[in-house]
Amino acid sequence: MKMKPIHVALCLLVLISVGCTPDPKSGKGFTLPEGDIQRGQQTFATLHCQACHTVKGVTFDTLESSADQKMVALGGAKTKVQTYGDLVTSIINPSHRFATGYAEEEVATDGESKMRRYNNEMTVQQLIDLVAFLESHYSVIQYDQTRYVPFHF
Ligand code: HEC
Repeated sequence: MKMKPIHVALCLLVLISVGCTPDPKSGKGFTLPEGDIQRGQQTFATLHCQACHTVKGVTFDTLESSADQKMVALGGAKTKVQTYGDLVTSIINPSHRFATGYAEEEVATDGESKMRRYNNEMTVQQLIDLVAFLESHYSVIQYDQTRYVPFHF
C-alpha cells in the first residue's frame, strides 16, 4: 500500500508529539521561589558545609575536617551554567552525579557520595537559601567570539 503524504505527515506528527512528552520523572516544571543569599551563607555555616567545601570568594571560620576528606570547591567560573536544578540535586541527592574534576575515590565510596545527608534535618527554606547563595558565586566562562575579517566585494 502506498502512503499518501497526509498519512506520512500524520505519522510524523504522532512521533514528534510522543517524543515531546516529558518523562514523569523529569525535572520539567520545577521552580523554586526566590531565596535569600545572605541567609544562605549563614545556613551554609550553620550546617557545617564548609567542613568539606570551599566557596569561591567566601571565607568561613575553619572547621576541623577529617584529614581524609578531600575539599570540594564550589562556585567560580564554569563552562556550563549550574542551574538551581543541578544545585538542588547535588544537595538532596548527592550520589546522582558526582562533582567533576575529582577522582571517584576522592568523593565517593562504593558509588555513594561522601557528602553528608541532610534530607532529615534541612528545612525547605534552608535549601532554597543555600541554592540562592551558591548560585550567586558561580559564573559562566564567556568565550571570545571568533572575529571574522570583513570581506569587501
Ligand atoms: C562530609 C563532607 C561534606 C559535607 C559536610 C557537605 N558536602 Fe557537599 N559534597 C561533598 C562531596 C565529597 C562532594 C562531591 C561528590 C558529589 O558530587 O556528590 C560534594 C558535592 C557537593 C555539590 C556539587 C558540586 C559540583 O561541582 O557538582 C554541592 C552543590 C554541594 N556538595 C553542596 C553542599 C552543601 C550546601 C552542604 C551543606 C548543607 C554540603 N555540600 C555539605 C562532601 C560534603
